[in-house]
Amino acid sequence: VFLSQDELKKIAAYKAVDFVESGMVLGLGTGSTAKHAVDRIGELLKQGKLKNIIGIPTSKMTHEQALSLGIPLSDLDTYPVVDLAIDGADEVDPYMNLVKGRGGSLLREKMIEGACKKFVVIVDESKLVKHLGGSGLAMPVEIVPFCWKFTAEKLKLLFGDAGCVAKLRTFKENGEPFVTDNRNYIIDLYFKKDIGDLKAASDAILRLTGVVEHGMFLDMATTVIVAGELGVTLKNK
Ligand code: A5P
Repeated sequence: VFLSQDELKKIAAYKAVDFVESGMVLGLGTGSTAKHAVDRIGELLKQGKLKNIIGIPTSKMTHEQALSLGIPLSDLDTYPVVDLAIDGADEVDPYMNLVKGRGGSLLREKMIEGACKKFVVIVDESKLVKHLGGSGLAMPVEIVPFCWKFTAEKLKLLFGDAGCVAKLRTFKENGEPFVTDNRNYIIDLYFKKDIGDLKAASDAILRLTGVVEHGMFLDMATTVIVAGELGVTLKNK
């Protein structure tokens, strides 16, 4: 049987929710894959199969979704330690490093997933890459809106001559800048060659004043669940 990409996302999401236990504080991810996990958690709560869950949403969008499902919500101020987070990713490398944020959230995700005892990543097999940034798709960087062209240029220069293209993320319809949940802008980096040392690239990006955070999630995932045509695989750190 041929499964659609969305069906694969759902399979990975449901598998991750098997790890959820009553009484947990849960990081609720963002995006089309994580949405299935949040739906499933809401369903299990309604059926009484899960109890006393507290959700910490990683975006305004997920906040709305979880509210509509009746999942009790809180935040990191109240719960600085999160038991488990479940979230999708745009790219996953063989070392379980991730690119996230193509959907527009990354800062809240990184704060919450960085505070988790366990971080379960759910993807369909199309997200697997050999090298982060190697898929030719965007590596997002959240920056302050103030003089964004200046910061975009600095970002580009970090990767040397013709190393990458830095583009302000805008809405197709009107060309207006995309604004994050934290009222920032996003610069999408498109790499033309291998990023090289990921940790060095991460540090260099974060050192730029004007940068708030980037979408490389290095050494954060503790489990990756991949759903593919041939079944589900689970990899632990
Ligand atoms: C949101 O910006 C993200 O970081 C998502 O986790 C990521 O983009 C994956 O989203 P999909 O599950 O929709 O592919």
